[in-house]
Amino acid sequence: RTLRIGLIPGDGIGKEVIPAGRRILEALPASLGLKFEFIDLKAGWETFQQQGVALPEETVSILKSDCDGALFGAVSSPTTAVKGYSSPIVALRKKLDLYANVRPVKTVVSAPKPIDMVIVRENTEDLYVKEETTRDTPDGKVAEAVKRISQRASSRIATIAGEIALRRQKIRAAGSPSIHKGPLVTITHKSNVLSQTDGLFRSTAREALAAPRFREGAVAVEEQIVDSMVYKLFRQPEAYDVIVAPNLYGDILSDGAAALVGSLGLVPSANVGEGFAIGEPCHGSAPDIQGQGIANPIATLRSAALMLEFLNEEAAAAKIYAAVDANLEEGKLLSPDLGGTAKTEEVVEDILRRL
Ligand code: NAI
Ligand code: MG
Repeated sequence: RTLRIGLIPGDGIGKEVIPAGRRILEALPASLGLKFEFIDLKAGWETFQQQGVALPEETVSILKSDCDGALFGAVSSPTTAVKGYSSPIVALRKKLDLYANVRPVKTVVSAPKPIDMVIVRENTEDLYVKEETTRDTPDGKVAEAVKRISQRASSRIATIAGEIALRRQKIRAAGSPSIHKGPLVTITHKSNVLSQTDGLFRSTAREALAAPRFREGAVAVEEQIVDSMVYKLFRQPEAYDVIVAPNLYGDILSDGAAALVGSLGLVPSANVGEGFAIGEPCHGSAPDIQGQGIANPIATLRSAALMLEFLNEEAAAAKIYAAVDANLEEGKLLSPDLGGTAKTEEVVEDILRRL
């Protein structure tokens, strides 16, 4: 099988880590029967300065018609609003209907407090529909925002969370060391206060996760109110396997969870739609370390693996995860964000050797 992968480095260290993502895909063993074709694509702040748009139409159309998946680095955003500039990744999620944002947060198994969870965030609605209004009242201005929750979006996000739980269980059963015994999905909401919106999310997610294939796969389902979820996430992170949440809570939880593992340079993500996935490291363009060759490539390597998972290439993904974990377990060639002195290049070489 040949996979066509769009490469969108973006700005800053995006340009240093995306080539590493390409190299690890090219280095996968031939026995997997996978071939790759790469297509270089543009987006971001530099592209905006050159072309007047942050996301050229060409990038979108090539992704849509020619690619099976993509890797997105990071883009810099101006600190104050610039006319005509809007975030390319947000636009891409919309244009390609990438409805799920998936963020695994994982330490090595031998860590003093091991963590291995995935946060699955609904990516299309909730307060982020951006329908805001401001009006003048006798008491001053009042601003309001729409929080939209639909059955369709809640059902598909819960379904993909259940599927991720099943797949993780399969990878564990195949011998991957893990801290979890069985698949578990935790539904996060605030339906005690927002009984209609979050209430609909909760009941729809419950219904979707009651499907026969999840019951047959012994996927346990529990609920957690979002504020106590934050508390437990910090006190007892090892208790979670897959967490599913509406957009806003998911945004906050996923950044909070990323803080549990020590460096943004370790945390991958994927934006997932029907038959398409974009792997994206969680970090930004890191202007403070750009150009020094010391960016941690692991978030991107894991994002490449995560993209492969959603393109149904689990075996290939597992090989990349194992090579990365082996590098981290040994702990000899680590980048400066993890307390080491290794350059991006040396970390990549070490992981490729293990692959
Ligand atoms: P950032 O993630 O770029 O950096 C935060 C801190 O983490 C910095 O000290 C950086 O050096 C470090 N860091 C991040 N990734 C690293 C890696 N792979 N290896 C080693 N150290 C790493 O976030 P910041 O500084 O808030 O934003 C910088 C720029 O990136 C801004 O223009 C922001 O808008 C943009 N950004 C873009 C994102 C995206 O494209 N999805 C996400 C977050 C920020
Ligand atoms: Mg965020």
